[in-house]
Amino acid sequence: MRGWRVGKIEVLKPVLVTGASGRLATFVAEAFADRRVVALSRPALDIFDAAAVRRTVAEVAPAVVINCAAYNDVEGAEDHASAALAVNAFGVRNLARAAAATGARLVHYSTDFVFDGEADRPYTETDATRPQSIYAASKWLGERFALQAPGALVLRVESLFGCSPDWAGPRGSLDAMVERMRIGQDVKAFTDRVVTPSYMEDVARATRALVDAGAESGIYHVVNSGLATWDRVAAEAAHVLGTESRILPITLSEVRMRAPRPRYCALSNAKLTAAGFPMPEWQDAIQRWLGPRALAGHPGEART
Ligand SMILES: NC(=O)c1ccc[n+]([C@@H]2O[C@H](COP(=O)([O-])OP(=O)(O)OC[C@H]3O[C@@H](n4cnc5c(N)ncnc54)[C@H](OP(=O)(O)O)[C@@H]3O)[C@@H](O)[C@H]2O)c1
Repeated sequence: MRGWRVGKIEVLKPVLVTGASGRLATFVAEAFADRRVVALSRPALDIFDAAAVRRTVAEVAPAVVINCAAYNDVEGAEDHASAALAVNAFGVRNLARAAAATGARLVHYSTDFVFDGEADRPYTETDATRPQSIYAASKWLGERFALQAPGALVLRVESLFGCSPDWAGPRGSLDAMVERMRIGQDVKAFTDRVVTPSYMEDVARATRALVDAGAESGIYHVVNSGLATWDRVAAEAAHVLGTESRILPITLSEVRMRAPRPRYCALSNAKLTAAGFPMPEWQDAIQRWLGPRALAGHPGEART
């Protein structure tokens, strides 16, 4: 790796977080709160604007750039491929080039959707990718661009959850189900999609741990441990909440979706464990998020 040495981050330099109004970004900024964090949402830094990215990264001179910006509308991407590519691929290329030019370490988040979902055991980082939708292809390309930055970390996450009840932005599947359960509504959940749900607090902590440890560059699956179908995940959340809401089973074939969803997309986090960062089980994460001991002052709350 020329011009870049894997090592601990220079603590005097700031951590730059892009896409800072997003869900995961809130948790990431919190995980680095004892460092100087420069958190820039889209109006402050549009990552598709190459000149602005170059200028901002040079001015901030961060030790690490953590890219939380993304175009996440999986259905919308089928009609707006250029918008998805602009953020998920070319925006990442801008950040990778700027990080390389300044010696900052790039951390970028990707997705289980880079796989085709035909597996029968959790995907590892070395498994072949085969994106099935425009969103998935744009994220796949983003991975390639990110890895061009010396020292880059590409962290694949999936099925993120953990928003607080007063979160005002868009919610992920489990967050949306939990909001309906809180008001006693029944929820529909797939019985034939297998996932590894990922608590954003745990993802953010693991991100911090990898950065602090100067982890070897490459792809890591940063998900909670275990796997389940969506109806089981929803049932666990309902149980912890103590709600009367029913989980209504549905299958992929019953829902018209233009962008194909991978049916089996559990990710193995064995590489992360081997690197010294075991992740808690997803049931434990749901308990910490929704259980009686969940703290009121959770990072999503103050920042929405
Ligand atoms: N959520 C999941 O379950 C999931 C699953 C797999 C992978 N991931 C990945 O995890 C990462 C974090 O996801 P998330 O759920 O936290 O996303 P999110 O809540 O949708 O946040 C994404 C943020 O990116 C911002 N953004 C969009 N275009 C931008 C641009 N051109 N320049 C700067 N900022 C821009 C958005 O701003 P606006 O609000 O102004 O558009 C938004 O604040 C992403 O890489 C995502 O692809 C998420």
